[in-house]
Amino acid sequence: MNRFARIIGTGSYLPPTIITNQDLSQTIDTTDEWITTRTGIKQRHRVTTESTCDLAKIASNNALEMAGIDASELDLIILATTTPDKIFPATATMLQQAIGASCPAFDLQSVCAGFIFALTTAEQYIKTGAANKVLVVGSETLSRIVDWSDRSTAILFGDGAGAVVLSGSEETGILHSKLLSDGSYLSSLHVSNNFINESGFIKMTGNEVFKIAVSRLSLLAEQTLIDAGITTDELDWMVPHQANIRIISAVAKRIKTPMSKVIVTLENHGNTSAASIPLALDTAVRDGRIKKGDKLLMEGIGGGFSWGSILVQF
Ligand code: ACO
Repeated sequence: MNRFARIIGTGSYLPPTIITNQDLSQTIDTTDEWITTRTGIKQRHRVTTESTCDLAKIASNNALEMAGIDASELDLIILATTTPDKIFPATATMLQQAIGASCPAFDLQSVCAGFIFALTTAEQYIKTGAANKVLVVGSETLSRIVDWSDRSTAILFGDGAGAVVLSGSEETGILHSKLLSDGSYLSSLHVSNNFINESGFIKMTGNEVFKIAVSRLSLLAEQTLIDAGITTDELDWMVPHQANIRIISAVAKRIKTPMSKVIVTLENHGNTSAASIPLALDTAVRDGRIKKGDKLLMEGIGGGFSWGSILVQF
């Protein structure tokens, strides 16, 4: 009998401080019109004193509440983050304490593809029976590694967290997943800190990243549907990484999915890296668009490059 990893709860959290495009245009040479047209982003949320763990805690508690389980019932916590609170210990262990869990907990770093990589890892634990209830979180305080004087990156990124609770199921759940990496693109998108300098900022060749994101994700989305034996018509929702509306719509077009079936939340929070897919998922679950039984395609790409997809029946 097949054993699936099923999503039984979702949660998210955005810190209350908002930086609008208009706010940014006061400090850097940009406009609301340029940012909206090129990216689809209208505003981003930014931490003041909150940590990556603080954001993760609220998102996790919301997901646990929806799942109807207590943190003490968790068998594993995987936290995807590019912005851990410390070099060590893992932010996941701080989260374990903060929510009152006692299971193993570890961080996973795959930048904007972090949530896909973490969910796929969690699925393996569940499929093999090594775990039954797993909390998967994407949490980021990217504002700490953004150079706010660099208009090519400051407009894109934001802070936030999203979480899901997975449970073993004999009915349905994650149907297919695929992970890919190509380390030859390091210079296109990276953080300049190599532990020799004290701190570093995101450095990116935006138009190169854009082209690679569109080509790799389009190919992957198309292949995922073929491998999973799902037609475009059978797909209920695309829940993509929220980086740029032009990347999202190009991928949707390639798999012939209308934008009415794509969950887009980036106008509200920008690119929150590992948090963006669970943020979008939680929004659409809570507003009633995504329903039990719906088939969802999640996909994302990030620095590395690393990219991946997951097809899940909710
Ligand atoms: N405001 C006004 N003008 C700007 C700004 C800005 N904020 N930023 C750049 N420009 C200017 C450039 O200087 C350039 O001017 P020039 O023609 O005089 O030289 C012009 O706008 C065009 O610059 P491009 O970089 O070619 O603009 P592009 O259309 O590629 O848009 C963007 C830039 C939005 C960064 C886009 O390339 C992008 O979204 N790339 C993907 C990056 C991304 O999402 N990275 C996140 C991680 S990976 C991932 O998640 C996919």
